[in-house]
Order: sequence, then C-alpha cells, then structure tokens
Amino acid sequence: MASKDSRCVLVTGGAGYIGSHCAVEILQAGHDVIIIDNCCNAVTGTGGIPESIHRVCQITGKQVKYHQVDIVDIEALRDVFSKYSIDVVIHLAALKAVGESVKRPLDYYKVNFIGTCNIVQVMKEHNMKNLIFSSSATVYGHSNAVPFVETLPTGIDITSPYGKSKYFTETMLKDVCSQDKSWNMILLRYFNPVGAHPSGLLGEYPSGTPKNLMANAVQAALGNIPHLKVFGNDYDTPDGTGVRDYPHVVDLAQGIAAALAKIEDNNNSCGLRIYNLGEGRGYSVLEMIAALEKASAKKVPYVIEKRRPGDIGTFYSDPTLAWKELGWKATRSLEERCKDLWHFHTMNPHGYLKN
Ligand code: UFG
Repeated sequence: MASKDSRCVLVTGGAGYIGSHCAVEILQAGHDVIIIDNCCNAVTGTGGIPESIHRVCQITGKQVKYHQVDIVDIEALRDVFSKYSIDVVIHLAALKAVGESVKRPLDYYKVNFIGTCNIVQVMKEHNMKNLIFSSSATVYGHSNAVPFVETLPTGIDITSPYGKSKYFTETMLKDVCSQDKSWNMILLRYFNPVGAHPSGLLGEYPSGTPKNLMANAVQAALGNIPHLKVFGNDYDTPDGTGVRDYPHVVDLAQGIAAALAKIEDNNNSCGLRIYNLGEGRGYSVLEMIAALEKASAKKVPYVIEKRRPGDIGTFYSDPTLAWKELGWKATRSLEERCKDLWHFHTMNPHGYLKN
C-alpha cells in the first residue's frame, strides 16, 4: 500500500529504454506505477511480462501493474483507466527512429499523434488532467541557433515525420491547455540520452540494426560490427564531427520525476510548462568515441563517411529553466555515462534475451 502522498502514476511505454528508467525513479519516489506498453520493442520474460519490467521490480524491490496495451487502441486504454484511479500520466510510448519515420510516416503519425490524442481523450473522460509528455529536441528544427532554449520558435525546418509528429503533438496539447485551464501538462524535450542503469540491469538494446551513435559505438567496441561509421568530419565544429547533448538516461529519468513533483507541489495547478532535459553542453562524435574507449578499455574502430542526410552539425540544450523551476540538472559525468553503458552491455551481451 502506498503512503498518503503517493500517487497512482500510469507510465506509457514503460518497458522501453527511457520508460523503464523512469519507472524506477517514480517507484523510488514512493508512487504506485502502472505500466502499459505494446511490447513492439520488448523482450518478454516470465509470465508474459517484459523482462525490463521484471528488472525494474528487481532494482526497486517493488511491484508494478502491467498491461499489454497499444495506445492506438482507445477501448483498451479506456479499460485500463476503468481499473485504476490514476492521478498522473507519464506518456512515453512512441515510435522514435528518425530514418524509419521517413519510410513509414503514417505509422508515426498514428502512434505518436493519434495515440496521444487517445490518451488525452480518455484522461478527459475521467476528469484526470495531469500529463507529462515526452517530447524531443527535434521540435527545434534545423534553423535555430544553439543552445536551444524553450522560448525559441519550433516546427520550422523539421525534416522527418518523427520530428513533425512530436511538433504536431506539442501543438495539439498546447491547444487543449488553452481551451481548458484546468489541465496540467509538462512537455519535456529530451536531448540524446545515453548510458544505462548503474546496476547493469537496465539499458538499451535496440532490436534490428542500431541507428544511434552510442549503440553503434558499443557494437564496434565489442567487435560485433567491423567499425563505426562517423557521419561527416567537415561540420563547423572543433573537430569537424557532429556535436550533441548526451544526458545520462538516469538523469533524464530523474528529470521526469522532478516534473511529477512539480505537478504535486503546485497542488495540481501548474498549467502548461515546457522544459529541456539536457546537460547544456555538447560533445563531438570523436569525443564520445574517446570516452567509450577509456571506459571500456577497448578500441572503437571507426571510418569517416560522408554526412548523413538530414543531420545538423551542432545542437545542445539550454537547461536553465529546468534547474530554476524543477530544481533539476544532469549531473552524471561523461565517464559515468560510458562506464554504465559498457557495464550493461558486458552484463547483457544479448540484451534482455537469456542467451
Ligand atoms: N552518428 C555517427 N554514426 C552513427 C550514428 C550517429 O557518426 O552510426 C553521429 C550523427 O551524425 C550525429 C551524432 O552521431 O552527429 C548523433 O547521432 P544520433 O543518431 O545518435 O542522434 P541524433 O542527434 O541524430 O538524433 C537523436 C534521436 C532522435 C531525436 C534527436 C533530437 O535519435 O530521436 O536526437 O533529439 F529526435
């Protein structure tokens, strides 16, 4: 039984990389957690429950309620809401591969946009209006100067359907808030999370060919791929390679927990808020490779290739507002991010699969 200050928190996409780390933080803050996930990326463990969720329970020593639900299915969502008295929704479930979104735009709009409309609709039916939404730095598009601050215009020059789906969803949520002031919505713009839980039990093991930098760098260090492709060394950056803001995934998860605390502290009347969750500084691809080599004591073989279409040279956050209003900042060092990432992969050479 939870304490009197605890909330019943629904985490959508809670079996995923950010979602599972988020569930740990929310449980550790003393709340009850219900997870829904359609398992499209998850490895199923005992009892048909995703292995990542078993590990969330193992880390925290607490239980969660889990339902395999697709957010596109509004009746299934209604069913979950009818079973519990949910206080807050943390909505992470989404499709997130930029390249894939160009090939499957309809799926991305369906899951990311319509899925969120469904959640807001069912929340409204239950008169429960506290939502934390996982947005992305991608909404800042390609034209803004760095660092990205929340007051910058969004939606301009976004190239991928993934990015547009996040922008359209943000726009829809803002419209809902302006029509009905009793909503509390916190939109969190994530930068590029890396690392893994320090226990070595949770991390990211993408199904299929990994797309992101550190997922590929680890595979190169392990010798599973011959080399990492470095996409461009002719950007206007100190060493010519792309620069990004890479917060530790546990820092990011603690940022989500800080947003939850904000809704509670403001007595459920914080209205609409938007925060960047990033470290506030960028590292180049070559700096990230060097950091992983140090943490793993392995070489990361790499080859310079031409620029990847759609990439920009540099982006990183201005996280000042999150510090001012949420009391949150990313504190874990680059060394720690790489050490935890390596730890997860050495403990789980096949991800969440048993062998
Ligand atoms: N990179 C490589 N080789 C790779 C993969 C990436 O050199 O194999 C480089 C990219 O060119 C870029 C940097 O590493 O300079 C980071 O690339 P990622 O693919 O890891 O991440 P992106 O910044 O392209 O995109 C990420 C997420 C998106 C999100 C975006 C903005 O994948 O979901 O950040 O938040 F939208």
